[in-house]
Amino acid sequence: MTTKKSKNDIIIFDTTLRDGEQSPGASMNLSEKIRIAEVLEDMGVDVIEAGFPIASDGDFEAVNEIAKLVKGSTICGLARSSKGDIDRCAEAIKPAESGRIHTFISTSPLHMKYKLQMEPEDVHQAVIDSVTHARNFTDDVEWSCEDGSRTEHDFMCRTIESAIDAGATTINIPDTVGYAMPMEYAAMIEMVMNRVPNVDKAVISVHCHNDLGMAVANSLAAVQVGARQIECTINGLGERAGNAAMEEIVMGLRTRSDYLPYNTNIKSELITKASKLVSTVTGFSVQPNKAIVGANAFAHESGIHQDGMLKNAQTYEIMTPESIGLTESKLVMGKHSGRHAFREKLIELGYDLGDNAVQDAFKRFKDLADVKKDVYDEDIVAIVDDAVIRDNDTINLEKLEVLCGTEHQPPKASMTLNVDGEQKSAEMTGDGPVDAIFKGIKELTGIAPHLQLYQVHAVTQGTDAQAEVTVRLEEDGKTVNGQGADTDTMVASARAYINALNKLLVKREKSAPSALSA
Ligand code: KIV
Ligand code: ZN
Repeated sequence: MTTKKSKNDIIIFDTTLRDGEQSPGASMNLSEKIRIAEVLEDMGVDVIEAGFPIASDGDFEAVNEIAKLVKGSTICGLARSSKGDIDRCAEAIKPAESGRIHTFISTSPLHMKYKLQMEPEDVHQAVIDSVTHARNFTDDVEWSCEDGSRTEHDFMCRTIESAIDAGATTINIPDTVGYAMPMEYAAMIEMVMNRVPNVDKAVISVHCHNDLGMAVANSLAAVQVGARQIECTINGLGERAGNAAMEEIVMGLRTRSDYLPYNTNIKSELITKASKLVSTVTGFSVQPNKAIVGANAFAHESGIHQDGMLKNAQTYEIMTPESIGLTESKLVMGKHSGRHAFREKLIELGYDLGDNAVQDAFKRFKDLADVKKDVYDEDIVAIVDDAVIRDNDTINLEKLEVLCGTEHQPPKASMTLNVDGEQKSAEMTGDGPVDAIFKGIKELTGIAPHLQLYQVHAVTQGTDAQAEVTVRLEEDGKTVNGQGADTDTMVASARAYINALNKLLVKREKSAPSALSA
């Protein structure tokens, strides 16, 4: 069970894989969720909310697999207050060395009347029943009063007291709709600390949404009056405007420890890695001026700032790039580098690949080194990630040629795909080269989903940089994100589209009941 070690230790509860994944378009497949969970574990996250097991078979499987694999963090699943939800959640977290059930019900007048259509007395009873039932499976039970910030104080205190009496060890008070202001939210948490008689038997947690841009400020204000768990996500991913961003919480506490004397277990040096992974997997790029992880967060453009920085970095830098794992792009071996050095580099970058995967990645590294003068760490990460996501794909790109230019001829793409072991070729024109490629792939596969997002970004600088393309496709309300990387933007685009189609095929196979939201 996750417990506070000392009175100023803050439990970091990451919900990127649950609340984060609920943002429209941010859906992730099992292997992506596992990769993110492993990075969160390496970072030292105390509790990973891995999903909402009743929502779909895919969610159940993700929580269950992460519970089997991740041993360094508590694995938590979300459940509404019904027995069915809690049983499914308990089943999913069963393999965890340390597992938590997080059950919730709305307590605000608005939610009780319109969403739940329940009387307050029935909600109160549901709190007691759900927590009591959850305690049959684990000692680590969290209870949340959904829409907490708009809940009447007397009713909030009563339900919290009953939840703790029934065995809840963490009480989470969410600002579900991102409505609260920092001093107001802190006053509410302080009111709970002062009025609930058994409050010392539970950890008070906060879960703030960012609709008014206050999620991090509200969370930190709550810590100052006694909250000891913060629920947050990488890059602030989450429903609507998102949740409190973990990187901002962690670096806020670390950088201003003079004012906020609280500790977390987080290895901040892994923040950049986690941020990049979440943004690549979801296709949600990070705005350049985003605090901590934006591309400009440590860039100094104006002459006065640059001059100050050269004299003393502290003039304009309140934290170092190294503290979030942002290092100078490192030049790696060139095309003469051998397999052994390449394997060492993979280990240094945090990859633990089998022999075949190393072999594939090495071949792609050599191909890349032939066309790109300087190969950086980021290039290696891009080609390895690209190889990993293509594992066991049904559709593969064999050949692509694209013709386009200023000569008033429609752009044309000729391609050969391997579709389930069969070679298929097509030639297609389009409004642009990417359009021609995507039309050709649709023709050859017979799959024509709706394109929601097409996004290109350069892995490193320079005209020979690899392009990393993200494509989001939607079919019958299900969305998938595909990625592709190559020095040729058209090849990367084709790979990304094909990767998304492969994920769609897996989704079709697994076709599960439609997802619930919390
Ligand atoms: O925002 C919210 O209230 C939630 C709860 C399920 C904790 O996500
Ligand atoms: Zn939420």
